[in-house]
Amino acid sequence: MAKIRTHYVCQECGRTAIRPMGRCPSCGAWDSMVEEIAEAAPSQSKKHSHYVPQSKPVRIQDIEGGQEERWPLSMAEFARVLGGGMVPGSLVLLGGDPGIGKSTLMLQVAAEIAQESRVLYVSGEESARQIKMRAERLRQNGKDAKSSEHLFLVTETNLDAILTHVEVVQPVLLVVDSIQTVNMEALSSSAGSVSQVRECASRLRELAKTSGIAVFLIGHVTKEGTIAGPRVLEHIVDTVLQLEGDRFQSYRLLRSMKNRFGPTSEVGVFEMREQGMAEVLNPSEAFLAERLIEAPGSAIAVMMEGTRPILVELQGLTSPTNFGNPRRTTNGLDFNRLLLVAAVLSRRAGMKLGEQDIFLNVVGGLRIEEPAADLAAAAAIASSHTDKPVRADIVLVGEVGLSGELRWVSHMEARLREAAKLGFKGAVIPRRMRGKMQLPDGFEVQEARSLREAVKIALIQ
Ligand code: TYD
Ligand code: MG
Repeated sequence: MAKIRTHYVCQECGRTAIRPMGRCPSCGAWDSMVEEIAEAAPSQSKKHSHYVPQSKPVRIQDIEGGQEERWPLSMAEFARVLGGGMVPGSLVLLGGDPGIGKSTLMLQVAAEIAQESRVLYVSGEESARQIKMRAERLRQNGKDAKSSEHLFLVTETNLDAILTHVEVVQPVLLVVDSIQTVNMEALSSSAGSVSQVRECASRLRELAKTSGIAVFLIGHVTKEGTIAGPRVLEHIVDTVLQLEGDRFQSYRLLRSMKNRFGPTSEVGVFEMREQGMAEVLNPSEAFLAERLIEAPGSAIAVMMEGTRPILVELQGLTSPTNFGNPRRTTNGLDFNRLLLVAAVLSRRAGMKLGEQDIFLNVVGGLRIEEPAADLAAAAAIASSHTDKPVRADIVLVGEVGLSGELRWVSHMEARLREAAKLGFKGAVIPRRMRGKMQLPDGFEVQEARSLREAVKIALIQ
């Protein structure tokens, strides 16, 4: 094979160099020189004139339309996040922190597809024996007892070798675990570097598009929360899925961050069990299962995950500060929102929190970013501070503003319907400015203008 020429390109200013450099000589940026395959420069005269394109423009009405073909999966949560099933020829990136369950989830999906068609699972991290041991563990699950006789495993990190294996096995699904371990000999940079990740992913994309194989790449997320190499991969793939959750808790959320074949912001909920990932079909019920009724410091919020409302319990605890500055600690809620809610409670709702440590916990290891949970967070803190429980049969939905006012949030009707479905009798929400909501009979909605008013309604006096 002819040696492919490579060069280094500054990601900031585009300056090229033939050797790796720590700092770009043109713009002075550090660590910006990334290795790329150098295309032989076309000679100027040929640029336009005699090139015969392979492609041909077609009238839009002459293009055959119809639905994208999809393979259904019995794992409905996974299929839903993908937008209704796996699309042949698509390239999907599954990202997440180490140890969160990416390999486990992909192996389960691979095993399912492999009951009917060939699947190739390439691992650069574990030996075939280790994977087999995991598969056995998953199979004790009973449900998947049907054997996955078309599942092929190989430990390989060389891209050309992987492509050769694909030719031999002829799978319909290829899983690469993980893209950071794969490397191309043509590039001298090490596996996991931006250039390796990008080039290898592009080649795998070409494979997916030309052969119709669905390719899943597993990617580790760096500490900063981006998938390495950062933005690079997201542009190359069709779909980006992210598996998240607290490593010490069993719930996992699978989110779609980008999807060319379906809606984004869809979320699937799973539970990591002894025998692999199990779907949680009714997440709200699961998140509320361990709740103590009428314990001070607990309030129920309704958050939106994609198009789906999920009920979660927020727990607040206040305790007098022993020395120095009062502490604010949050687990699952955005820290700045906690500061804001605590400050508004102090200044506008008459709670003296200036010398109190405040702890806030979202049960189940979920992460809430929406302001719609502000009111429930405030009620949980106020409830702990006053030692009065929040009414057990209501949910609290609303954003808290700086002057202590409550603000309307999106999807209110869907949120309240979900609460009613789970047996809640009512809700405290901001004052309504817009039209009517269709809610089940007997569901009592109380509107409050301010945080002070809402807390008063919510707490059992
Ligand atoms: P893994 O899929 O290896 O994570 P990743 O590929 O994202 O790094 O899963 C790691 C954890 O999951 C590990 O700590 C063990 C646990 N686990 C279970 O709890 N149940 C199971 O059935 C399996 C296979 C793993
Ligand atoms: Mg893994």
